[in-house]
Amino acid sequence: MKIPKKTKAAFIRGFGDFDVIKYEDIDTPTPKPGHILVKVLAAGVNRLDHYIREGSLGVELSFPHILGTDASGEVAKLGEEVTGFEIGERVIILPGYPQKLNETDIRPTIAAPSFALPGLHISGTYTQYMQVPSYALIKDTTGLNPEEVATLPVALATAVHALRQIGKVKKGDKVLIHSGASGSGSMQIQVARAIGAEVATTIRSDAKGEFAKKIGANLVINTSKEDFVEVIKKWTKDQGADVIIDNLAGDVLPKSIEATRPMGKIVAFGFAAGPEVSFDIRSLFFAQKRLCGSMASDPEDLQFGLELLRQGKIKPVVDQVFPLSQAKDAHRLIASNKVTGNVVLLPWKS
Ligand SMILES: NC(=O)c1ccc[n+]([C@@H]2O[C@H](COP(=O)([O-])OP(=O)(O)OC[C@H]3O[C@@H](n4cnc5c(N)ncnc54)[C@H](OP(=O)(O)O)[C@@H]3O)[C@@H](O)[C@H]2O)c1
Repeated sequence: MKIPKKTKAAFIRGFGDFDVIKYEDIDTPTPKPGHILVKVLAAGVNRLDHYIREGSLGVELSFPHILGTDASGEVAKLGEEVTGFEIGERVIILPGYPQKLNETDIRPTIAAPSFALPGLHISGTYTQYMQVPSYALIKDTTGLNPEEVATLPVALATAVHALRQIGKVKKGDKVLIHSGASGSGSMQIQVARAIGAEVATTIRSDAKGEFAKKIGANLVINTSKEDFVEVIKKWTKDQGADVIIDNLAGDVLPKSIEATRPMGKIVAFGFAAGPEVSFDIRSLFFAQKRLCGSMASDPEDLQFGLELLRQGKIKPVVDQVFPLSQAKDAHRLIASNKVTGNVVLLPWKS
């Protein structure tokens, strides 16, 4: 495989609005020992990328900084000491991994001192070529096209992590998943159904409701017309949901606590409705409800999710595909809340 000296990449030199994303040539990395140069075939866009770009995460970056956590690609070049991979093989980059090989057995993975998310702590996937430690790659045997695969790592692995590891969701549980047409919500609905749970979901428009039903939601609640607490109480015969995956926070999370059954779990997963939450602590501990955080995933979560995919229980949801040169338009779309499922960038399309 002939590798050019220069690589196209979308990166930022500082925080700000959509126009801070630049699309320029950078030097193609040379893989270090133990690393593989991956030709990125497709890069997924997550809401996280939007938060990083606008600077709302409160994380310091060293600029220029390449965005993007999700990618599917192929092996372009092997660094010294790499075994077990061949040039041209399709691979998926783990959505977060330790920088040090001797920390790869630590669980949860985020507890590893050198844990890093591509696109946040280290250089990301919005590029034609990137170098990745070989232990952070898994072979792509999905048979799907690259843009479909690029939607999976973050959404699928974090859905499995939040539902199985943190929420301990089991067959027959009644689970509420907020914003079920979103990148994360759409995957969480499918994983929860695959585990055998009954799923209710919230959306704010009928079109997104139709989509949520199509991917498996048993009950769709349009929060622009209905109060989700009341609907969930009715659905669960006044008990409350066993588990709620709260992708929204803001003024929604206090109501999620209300809609959870005694001893049930609220899994705080995201903050699309705002990072600040205020609630009366009595609403939580009087009925011994549990509020837990879920962040990132372990490699086993992705493997579990990919097995569900192989069994035909999960399907990627690609909403729109943009050339990498239009990364700023992809971010604009994410910020508009008009996405159903996921958005993908193609580094090799002009
Ligand atoms: N913990 C983790 O490991 C992890 C992993 C991935 C993502 N996340 C987080 O999870 C959240 C969702 O991510 P995503 O990728 O699914 O985002 P996304 O695809 O951009 O979707 C977010 C959706 O939230 C809904 N929404 C936005 N503002 C709202 C408001 N004020 N009230 C109610 N609904 C609102 C909108 O859907 P409607 O128009 O249908 O209401 C929007 O489409 C983000 O905060 C993200 O950072 C966390």
